[in-house]
Amino acid sequence: MSDRLRVGIVGCGGIARAHVSAYHSIPEVDIVSVHDVVPAAAEALARETDARIAKSPQEMAAVDDLDAVSICTPPALHFEHCRPFLEARIAVLCEKPLEANTRAAARLAELTRRSRTLFMTAFCHRFHPAVIELKKLIDNGALGKPLLFRNIFGGYLPLKGNHRANPALSGGGVIIDNGSHSVDLFRFLVGEPTAVQAVAGNAMQKLPIEDFGMIVLERRGKVFGEITSSYSLKGCGNWLEWYGTQGVAMVSYWNPGEPDLKYRIEGQTEWTPIDCSSHPDRFAGEIGHFIGCVRAGQRKAAVTVEDGYRASVIIQAAYESAAKGKKIAL
Ligand SMILES: NC(=O)c1ccc[n+]([C@@H]2O[C@H](COP(=O)([O-])OP(=O)(O)OC[C@H]3O[C@@H](n4cnc5c(N)ncnc54)[C@H](O)[C@@H]3O)[C@@H](O)[C@H]2O)c1
Repeated sequence: MSDRLRVGIVGCGGIARAHVSAYHSIPEVDIVSVHDVVPAAAEALARETDARIAKSPQEMAAVDDLDAVSICTPPALHFEHCRPFLEARIAVLCEKPLEANTRAAARLAELTRRSRTLFMTAFCHRFHPAVIELKKLIDNGALGKPLLFRNIFGGYLPLKGNHRANPALSGGGVIIDNGSHSVDLFRFLVGEPTAVQAVAGNAMQKLPIEDFGMIVLERRGKVFGEITSSYSLKGCGNWLEWYGTQGVAMVSYWNPGEPDLKYRIEGQTEWTPIDCSSHPDRFAGEIGHFIGCVRAGQRKAAVTVEDGYRASVIIQAAYESAAKGKKIAL
């Protein structure tokens, strides 16, 4: 491997910009090739990055001598788009959710295992500065043992013309989209859930997918998670709350007047704010970690294909629960 690292981007839409900006913050990385099925999208990103335009993911994997690739296409294309890179043993950072359904996610996990290649599922919230600091608080025991996890990713996203509103591309609505992040955060900050219950509905936007979902996760009947996901809650902020046997911590995602993270131990009257400003933002943190693994020749990143697959299994069980109106054991 030379001193410089050669990176490709497949899918040149919204999230690709976050990847590009994070790669650009690493001096030894060159984005050398981009691909999109829409020529204008590929041309725009090629101009922004000075990269060439590849005809297909297969051509990119074959000719661009890449060290790593970011897969930034809609979920139902992830297996197809990761495959040529895994077969060529090129490190992959694949956007969440891992795939549009659990069967495809299992195929991608199996292909990754066989290829023995670095694969990272892009659960960027694990690298959100306040989540990193919360994890330290949890791990050092300050908050005690977990009892309750609450997370809302809301806000308003009009979905007309967006791939998220096409279930053949997205695999579902806000439950698989934002809910995948929330389920991964529960696994990261609490542990593996053992049962799930969910409801799903169309609160506001007329779409063939749900724009509202609530998931209740359980861990051995003793620890609970309450997850709310919506594309249609105007003015709604994003929050994560973690309640333990000794105290509580709250992550505020850019809510005005709120610190990024605050906690309170039983008996304290005041919240203690935690300064998270020394961390890079979540995309820079995620991609910095990925590139560090590539550089070190590591096969395993902090977030693996198995993490993507587990989230997929839990999300599919949430949809089954919403459809059947009953609790599903995991
Ligand atoms: N980690 C995060 O916080 C986060 C945020 C947004 C999106 N995402 C994920 O990133 C992925 C992409 O989302 P987005 O918001 O960037 O979507 P987008 O629609 O803005 O971009 C997707 C791009 O893929 C291209 N594309 C579609 N079909 C293609 C094909 N067959 N071949 C090549 N290119 C094709 C589209 O033309 C488009 O440019 C999704 O999996 C989404 O869930 C993650």
